[in-house]
Amino acid sequence: MSDIKKIKDEFLVKLSGDLKIENVSQIKSELFGKNGKISNSFKNLKSLPVEERKKFASDLNILKDELQDKINKKIQEIEITEINSKLENEKVDVTLPERNIVQGKIHPVSQVIDEISSIFSEIGFSVEEGPDVENEHYNFTALNTPDNHPARDMHDTFYLDDKKEFLLRTHTSPVQVRTMLKGKPPFKIIAPGRTYRSDSDQTHAPMFHQVEGLHIDKNINMGHLKGCLNYFIKSFFELNKIKMRFRPSHFPFTEPSAEVDIGYELRDGKIIIGEGDKWLEILGCGMVHPNVLKNVKINPDKYQGYAFGIGIDRLAMLKYGINDLRAFFETDYRWLNHFGFDPLDVPSNYRGLSR
Ligand code: DAH
Repeated sequence: MSDIKKIKDEFLVKLSGDLKIENVSQIKSELFGKNGKISNSFKNLKSLPVEERKKFASDLNILKDELQDKINKKIQEIEITEINSKLENEKVDVTLPERNIVQGKIHPVSQVIDEISSIFSEIGFSVEEGPDVENEHYNFTALNTPDNHPARDMHDTFYLDDKKEFLLRTHTSPVQVRTMLKGKPPFKIIAPGRTYRSDSDQTHAPMFHQVEGLHIDKNINMGHLKGCLNYFIKSFFELNKIKMRFRPSHFPFTEPSAEVDIGYELRDGKIIIGEGDKWLEILGCGMVHPNVLKNVKINPDKYQGYAFGIGIDRLAMLKYGINDLRAFFETDYRWLNHFGFDPLDVPSNYRGLSR
């Protein structure tokens, strides 16, 4: 049998099998690749006697076209079979009843953190974060809190080791220290997050949320602090005017220190924020103590500024009429469905987050 006939019979048999695209590619290179049977036969032409050469070349060309044609047809055939089987297997029955989709809700605390972040970002604050597990230095010492301060007591603080070196942060204030150590003044940041204290009743939970604020620059004074907080409280409660008072207080990391109360009244058992002759404490603040600045290698004669710490859960309760703090952390889906927020429903005062 001639070489041509051998190649033809061998490959027609191969191509008639049940093949995948990869198999066809393999066959193609066996024929037409660098050392393929057809390619080699062409190379061998030269060694044939002249009289045979012409006929062999013409037969080889015919075989080449025939096999090429077979290969193309085979590829087409495989592709069509694949498409048909996909159409067969992947069809969607649009008459089937829809699946029951349970849509999640945004927790009021997350919602309020977003609102707070967007309000402060409008006046130039950026958002920082710090770890929940802190060390004693950042949580207390660097914040000018003396060794005998009651906050350091086991009754107040969850320590994680016997040496009292690691703890669950009792406030977001250590983020002030971390931020100032990480960069150079000026600083204008807020830091929302979880905080922990050994406390639990209707208005206290062992885990709760705070947002810290810190603004350090040249010539920052208490007037800036007052302006900033007034702007924030009005924006947050969506009010044009708000009654607000600064009450002298004490925090080791600020001097002078103050607590801020806002005015409210009770109408039909509901708290109405803004007016009235009752006062509600909502935050602690003050001018950052020179010792805190020295602890992070900032010269207090050159830079100064204010800080504040706001209880987020309390704000959420006031704004959205929730009266038991513990419900926040009970993960009751019915409660969340009622008090939570639709992720696609943008609240009227939402200004968009520019984190
Ligand atoms: N860290 C304080 C607390 O948890 C709140 C606070 C008060 C934060 C005054 C501040 C501040 O930054 O200046 O009670």
